Amino acid sequence: MIILGIETSCDETSASVVKDGKIILSHVVATSQEMHAKTGGIIPENAAREQVKSIIPVIETAISDSLQTRSAPEARQAADYSKNKAVDSPLRKSDSEASRLWAVDHIDAIAVTIGPGLIGSLLVGVETAKTLSYVWKKPIVPVNHLVAHIYANFICEFLKSNFQFSKKGEPKLPAIALVVSGGHTDLVLLKDHGNIKWIGGTRDDAAGEAFDKTARLLGLPYPGGPSIAQAASLFKGEKQIMRAPRPMLDKDNFDFSFSGLKTHIVRELAKYQNIVEVSGAFAWEIQEAITDVLVAKTLKAVEKYKVPTLLLAGGVAANTRLREKFRLEIENCKLEIDFRVPPPWLCTDNASYIAACAEYNYKPVPWKKVSANPSLTIMDKQSA
Ligand code: KG4
Ligand code: ZN
Repeated sequence: MIILGIETSCDETSASVVKDGKIILSHVVATSQEMHAKTGGIIPENAAREQVKSIIPVIETAISDSLQTRSAPEARQAADYSKNKAVDSPLRKSDSEASRLWAVDHIDAIAVTIGPGLIGSLLVGVETAKTLSYVWKKPIVPVNHLVAHIYANFICEFLKSNFQFSKKGEPKLPAIALVVSGGHTDLVLLKDHGNIKWIGGTRDDAAGEAFDKTARLLGLPYPGGPSIAQAASLFKGEKQIMRAPRPMLDKDNFDFSFSGLKTHIVRELAKYQNIVEVSGAFAWEIQEAITDVLVAKTLKAVEKYKVPTLLLAGGVAANTRLREKFRLEIENCKLEIDFRVPPPWLCTDNASYIAACAEYNYKPVPWKKVSANPSLTIMDKQSA
């Protein structure tokens, strides 16, 4: 199937055209992060306003970009489209418009994030998708953003840049999946598509939230994850001056807790006059503390459930140190596991994995029944 994905849950406006849940034909992401960096975090109303501005241009670009990746016969078909169709339509003015209409005609379904996320932002994507579904007469598939993050691991190719990033084939299920994003940290057993068992998660702050909040304390820009990662990589772990807690590491469960880290950093920072001088050392230790707990707990779940596959997903999965630690630990412990993590640009929010998730969990619903749900959890069914 060819699915148009739409994602607007937070501060990214994204649209992608994805074939068979695996091959990206087009991938467009507009972000309002720069604006939020100025205010030190997201102001939901501003994020929603930016979504409104970007949604139509982003979808239009995704559709026209998808044409560039079509085969030569398909491209000819697209170019001839205006001749084949009724020419009296006021919409079919030029060849490029005709080609775009051909691309729209060759979309099998629309997938849209319905939650979780910011209500104002979600509504923009949901209402646009419903309108397009009605006007274009395409089925619409509501998608749970958290479940969808996992499906970035099922995408293997980006046709536009002729970029193949996974030659290992489709990940085998069952799998343990760690979803680490700005608002959520969930460890799940993905038994099969549409069959998920939640085995643990954060009791307070999410891993991404811990990065964002501690970065703010250190005076580093939003989003905090990449800022902390960069400051830590410059510091390289030399001359450590502070030890952060690794909460819940020894607990016999799969839960996490990151809010204590923030309190600890506030206390430790008070000992220093000049935050800039110690920000690298602090950033290093914060990254070590968060990644240590994520790796240890996840690998414990892998051992308990004896699954063949481990899937890492969500914005925090873009973290180089986290990826490296998983690889090292799996090697050191000689775990026989197929460890997958998407390329960093597929970890952070985008519509390609929304379309991929819809392909593997294809449950269209009438457009009138699709509604945004900002507080959806990873266990909630995405269909109404
Ligand atoms: O999945 P995502 O893009 O959006 C949500 O669904 O929340 O995740 C955003 C989170 C932010 O907290 C951001 O700081 C974090 O992912 N993040 C990172 C990195 N890139 C993004 N955290 C650590 N290291 C990174 N390189
Ligand atoms: Zn996300």
